[in-house]
This record gives sequence, structure tokens and C-alpha cells, in this order.
Amino acid sequence: MTTALVILAAGKGTRMNSDLPKVLHPIAQVPMLIHAMRAGSVLSPEHTVIVTGHGSEAVAKVARAEDEGTQIAVQEDQLGTAHAVAQARSAFSGFEGDVVVLYGDTPFLQPDTLERMIEARSGNDLVILGFEAADPARYGRLVMNGDVLERIVEFKDASDEERSITFCNSGLLACNAQLLFSLIDEVGNDNASGEYYLTDVVEIARRRGLNVTAVACDEAQTLGVNSRADLAAADAVFQTRARAELLDLGVTLMAPDTVYLAADTVVGRDTVIEPNVVFGPGVTVESGATIRAFSHLEGCHVSRGAVVGPYARLRPGAELAENTRVGNFVEIKNAEIAEGAKVNHLSYIGDASVGAATNIGAGTITCNYDGVMKHKTTIGENVFVGSNTMLVAPVTVGDGAMTATGTVVTRDVDPDALAVARAKQENKPGYARKLFDMLKAKKARRDKKA
Ligand code: UD1
Ligand code: CA
Repeated sequence: MTTALVILAAGKGTRMNSDLPKVLHPIAQVPMLIHAMRAGSVLSPEHTVIVTGHGSEAVAKVARAEDEGTQIAVQEDQLGTAHAVAQARSAFSGFEGDVVVLYGDTPFLQPDTLERMIEARSGNDLVILGFEAADPARYGRLVMNGDVLERIVEFKDASDEERSITFCNSGLLACNAQLLFSLIDEVGNDNASGEYYLTDVVEIARRRGLNVTAVACDEAQTLGVNSRADLAAADAVFQTRARAELLDLGVTLMAPDTVYLAADTVVGRDTVIEPNVVFGPGVTVESGATIRAFSHLEGCHVSRGAVVGPYARLRPGAELAENTRVGNFVEIKNAEIAEGAKVNHLSYIGDASVGAATNIGAGTITCNYDGVMKHKTTIGENVFVGSNTMLVAPVTVGDGAMTATGTVVTRDVDPDALAVARAKQENKPGYARKLFDMLKAKKARRDKKA
């Protein structure tokens, strides 16, 4: 059965109090909408339509970066969830398969839940995802008759008896696409909100004698985000889950609660992560590495046996080969550090490559930016870069070369050569004593005057 997704994301998200469309707010550094798209991807959808309203262009851009083929349907006025789905209709002309409708602001949906909905479709024309609510609050209520879902009643329109129902509507549904659009055609807006409710398709389907049922999932999966407090809570839920997964995979987290992960963080077995480490998007750490305390990593790759930090910053494009060392107060950006190389203290290595077994001395800086353009620094194998070397890019230092401490390297250094570029030292015997005496006398005169 071919399937397509419709993701509803046109709501204004007023309570976020934000210029950013609600579905673009990140959880674990990935926009909520992308979480929803990734959950939906388990169905290998033939196409995905996102219904947008506020901030449509920004939403479209993020969605297409995740999946180029994403279609966007703009809902100019938010007249209700049925009206929202109706906006996607043109994307379904001639499509014979199923459509699964989900919300862009419910990021915790688990893939197997969607699979169960599709399974339930085999004996039913329409499948709704429900959940037992601890506090049913304002959710729509599912009116069941055995396994048959008779109708969904919105809180605002419900009688007291209906409000006592705790089995609630998550908002997700699965149905043959053409059937769903024909059901939606019959939805009106004669209700307490004056909106076109998608939930009305249940009663309409039942009137046509169709089979409708509900599949249940746990409430945590349907958790929606409506405010910054919800966003923080959702992030916390995500972090707890992701840390537990890493521990299960054989990663040591010395203080799990202090490690902040991104949705796509990958860490190999037997890697040790010390306290207070932050992972931005796009980080892969292989097995047996050590990420020491207070390090910040994003868009980088750390190989087996590497040791990073404490207090290291790995920025996008940092590629650390096996058994490398990146120490305290070192920043690496867009640079390859080859096997066994060391950058141990107080350095900036950007737009560079560092060869195997090379040692970069404390305070070394690749001067990669001339104020207009970025340039590359190439350092060979087995090089010894003396402390406080400034490498003014573009520049190359050959294999086995050495730079003297404090050297400003502006020209390429041949293999095995020593580069020295600093003023020659002169020692003046007794001068320090004379200078001290002179300065002390000067201070005494000044103190006397005052
Ligand atoms: C909806 C359901 C309710 C369910 C609840 C679960 C209806 C009528 N009610 O209520 O039964 O318990 O979700 O959270 O469907 N949206 C649009 N365009 C619109 C309206 C909404 O794109 O015109 C999107 C929103 O951005 C959101 C989703 O649809 O992602 C749900 O809308 P929302 O207003 O939050 O629905 P509820 O009233 O909470
Ligand atoms: Ca809602």
C-alpha cells in the first residue's frame, strides 16, 4: 500500500510568543517539524505535504532541506483542521493510496505507532490514533462502541457525560486519500468554535456505513508543544530518552544529567563522556574515544581513541583521526587532524589540515581570515610547531619541519626545514638592576609630591 503524509503546521502558535513559526522551534537542536517528518518516514511516504500558514516560506525551506520533494500547501486562513487537510487536496490527484495526517508540533510520535495504524487500516476504512489521558483537559473525546469509533466530540461541544471520557484524540488519522477528501467535503462549521473540524469525518464515515476504529498509544507520544515551557519540557523528555539509549549502547556518561545531546548525536561503544558536555547537531564520535568535561562539539567527527578536552570546542568540519589529542581551550574548525596528531593547549586551528604525528605547540593560531576571505593552512606529518606560532594562511609547512617558538610564518616552509621569524634576543648585563633603581627613584619623587 502506498502512503503519503500530510503534516499540519499552519497554526499560529500564539503562546510561543515568537517570530519563529512554532514548528521550527528546535527540540534537541532539530526543528519539531523535522522530528515529525522523521517519524513519518517509517512509512516510506510517496510524498509529503506540509500545510503551512504563518511563516510559510521559512517552514518550506527547513522541510525541503530535510526532504527535497516536500510539497507545501498554504492555508491562508486557519479555519480548522479539516480545512487545513483540504488545502493538500491538489497534491493527491490520481493518488490511490493512503494518507496519514499528523501534526507538526507533536515531535514524540514513535515509528511503530504509525505502523500499527497502517495495520489497523486493513480491516477499517478510517483509523484514528487515541490515547488514555491522565488529564483529558480540552482534548477531543473518542466515543467508542466496542472496537468501533462512533464519533469524536470536541471538548467545547461535549456534554458532561462525554467530558468524563478519558480516551482522547491525538489528531492523527489514516485513511484512503480519496475517501478522506470526500468525507472532508461534507464537514461543516456549525459548532462551538465555528471551525471545520477534521474530527467530524468519523461521524460522516459511520453514517456511510464505513468501518472506523481507534488505535491507542501512550500519552507521551502525543505530547504537543504550545508554549516555551512545553518546549523545555519536551526537550527534557528527549534528553532523558537519548541519554538512556547511549547508556544502553555501552557509552559511559559520568554525569548523564549534565550531557546535552542533539537528536542526531551518534556515539560509539566504550566512549567515555565526562560531565557538562554539549553536543550540537551533526556529531559522530566513534568507539573508545574520550570527551572530557566542558567540551562543546558540533558538526564534527571524532575517531576511535581520540581524547577531546577538557574545555575543547569542535566546530563544523572538525575531523579528528584515531588517537588524536585536542586539549584545553582549543578550537578546531573545518580542519583535519590526522592520526596521532596533538593540539593540546590554547590553539585555534581553522581551515587547515594537520598531518599524522604532528605536534602543535601551545597558543598556535592559524590566521585563516584576512578580513574578506578564508585561506587554508597545510601542515605536514611529523611537524613540530613551536608554541605561539602564527601561521598566516595560505601557507604550507612541509613534513618533518619545525617552527621556532613565537614565529610568524608568512612563507611556505620546506620539509625538514626550521622556520624562525622573530627579533633576535639581546641580553644587557646589569640593565635590569639599573632600570629598577631608576623606576623606584621616580616613584619616590612622585609619592613625596603627593
Ligand atoms: C485538535 C483536535 C482534538 C485533539 C487535539 C490533539 C480537531 C477539531 N481537534 O484540537 O480532537 O484532541 O487536536 O492535540 O481537530 N492546524 C492547521 N490549520 C488550522 C487549524 C489547526 O494547520 O486551521 C494545525 C495546528 O497547527 C496544529 C494542529 O493542526 O498542528 C492541531 O490544531 P489545534 O488548534 O492545536 O487543535 P486542537 O484544538 O488542539
Ligand atoms: Ca492543540
